[in-house]
Amino acid sequence: MRIALAPGDGIGPEIMNATLELLKAAGGSQAIEFVVVEMGKHCFDRGETRGMTNAAIEMVEACGLLLKGPMETPKSGGGKSINVTVRKIWNAFANLRHFRTLPGVMTPYSRSGVSVDFFIVRENIEDTYGGIEHRLSNDVVQCKRLISAPGSDAVHRFAFETARRVGIKKVHCGHKANIMKMTDGLFLERFKAVAAEYPEIETADVIVDALCMNLVMKPQQYRMIVLPNLQGDIVSDLAAGLVGGLGFAPSANIGNHISIFEAVHGTAPDIAGKGIANPCSLILSTIMLLRHVGMLGTASRLENALLASLEQGVRTGDFGDAAKPALGTMDFVHEVAKRLGQKPGLIAAVPDAEDRVTFKAPVKPFRAAAVHTFGPGKTEVVGADVYLDAAEGCHELAKRLQELVQGTSFRLKLISNRGTQVWPTGSVYTDCVDYWRARFERVEGAAVAQPQTIDLLQRIAAKYVVCSYELLRTFDGKPGFSMAQGQ
Ligand code: NAI
Repeated sequence: MRIALAPGDGIGPEIMNATLELLKAAGGSQAIEFVVVEMGKHCFDRGETRGMTNAAIEMVEACGLLLKGPMETPKSGGGKSINVTVRKIWNAFANLRHFRTLPGVMTPYSRSGVSVDFFIVRENIEDTYGGIEHRLSNDVVQCKRLISAPGSDAVHRFAFETARRVGIKKVHCGHKANIMKMTDGLFLERFKAVAAEYPEIETADVIVDALCMNLVMKPQQYRMIVLPNLQGDIVSDLAAGLVGGLGFAPSANIGNHISIFEAVHGTAPDIAGKGIANPCSLILSTIMLLRHVGMLGTASRLENALLASLEQGVRTGDFGDAAKPALGTMDFVHEVAKRLGQKPGLIAAVPDAEDRVTFKAPVKPFRAAAVHTFGPGKTEVVGADVYLDAAEGCHELAKRLQELVQGTSFRLKLISNRGTQVWPTGSVYTDCVDYWRARFERVEGAAVAQPQTIDLLQRIAAKYVVCSYELLRTFDGKPGFSMAQGQ
């Protein structure tokens, strides 16, 4: 079995070398050929805008598995985050992280006897992470947030399948559907639809802000939480804080063809090259990889040795009992390697198992798949939202727009600013910026389709900068658009 290996930047090579040495000591590397691929900072520096070489891409696609260290993301301008790019281009749609109290890792919860043990499944490729951003006017920028039904279905199904495999009896869906009724609303609706296929698993939903408070107050009430991308990103780091920080949070990015296993933390430039980084996150991610491919025996041996070591006070400088010596990265894994075959005494050991490689290198798909959840329904155009860059006030804007659309099949229904209705009714307390949404509805009885809306745009564009527009459509009679705040 070949696994593509990208050591990463900063502390990446240090923790990767340590992890590979431990894997070798556990006997796990006999079944695996690691193939080093070029990814990360040095690729960006050479002008590879994707942060990796074509050869690296081909190798990861041939292997179907990538074990990666943390990689530096160029700030503001320049290349996009390679960590996000690899998840997106290879459709690693679900991010799985396990958060649990580890022996020897002191936290306020472990000190008070609260045992934390839950999984977060985060949607990994949609949401604001599409990075679809535009400057719309002098003062306004936007980020488009896309949530799809097939994308939501895939991550929910993965969560329920994982819950079934691990023996989890209750799955929560975190969301903000009370505010984002269409996007988070769809994510939640698909959670409920997919849950119906897993009747033995109890479900509940929780608004993400309440979820954060609950996690801090009583984390032991959760076993698995599935979340949209951005919320999942934030809640995952909060969860890492509950169990001792990012140094202990493993992560798997699972796709149908290619899966990526990585440490959750970054490149830690402040300690890079000092040989003191904590390798636990990458070791735990490697254990997830071993389970993913069926090497359950090696995974159990490694995990039990790590748990036994932590329990006995083996530590790097960033955690543990300060009375015990802080080890460097390599000495830490040597201590763990010495305990291979041991089991933890204070917490439950992971059951012994046998290695049975089930993973098969993926067959390259002929073309990208088109995925659907809903079949084609009946849609009808009922209006258009036209987005304008304009410096004047709402009453003047309304007067001009009404003049411009006179004689068309549309009438101006409302104007909103930053989502709040300001015309025909509004509040003088609503500050307005230089970017407006004008909503046009078809005149009663008028037959309209997309060409009429384009005609409408052309009339408006004669006077204003039209930044973009959205068709207002009904889908099987139901409006496919939200109301303005205050409408
Ligand atoms: P960071 O996670 O690298 O560091 C935050 C703090 O945690 C630092 O004090 C660091 O020393 C400490 N830390 C992190 N990992 C540690 C470990 N294994 N052992 C001991 N201490 C550790 O986050 P930061 O500083 O925000 O980001 C640095 C760089 O890493 C950036 O370029 C960022 O884009 C990148 N990054 C990459 C990720 C990835 O490849 N998956 C994830 C997060 C950040």
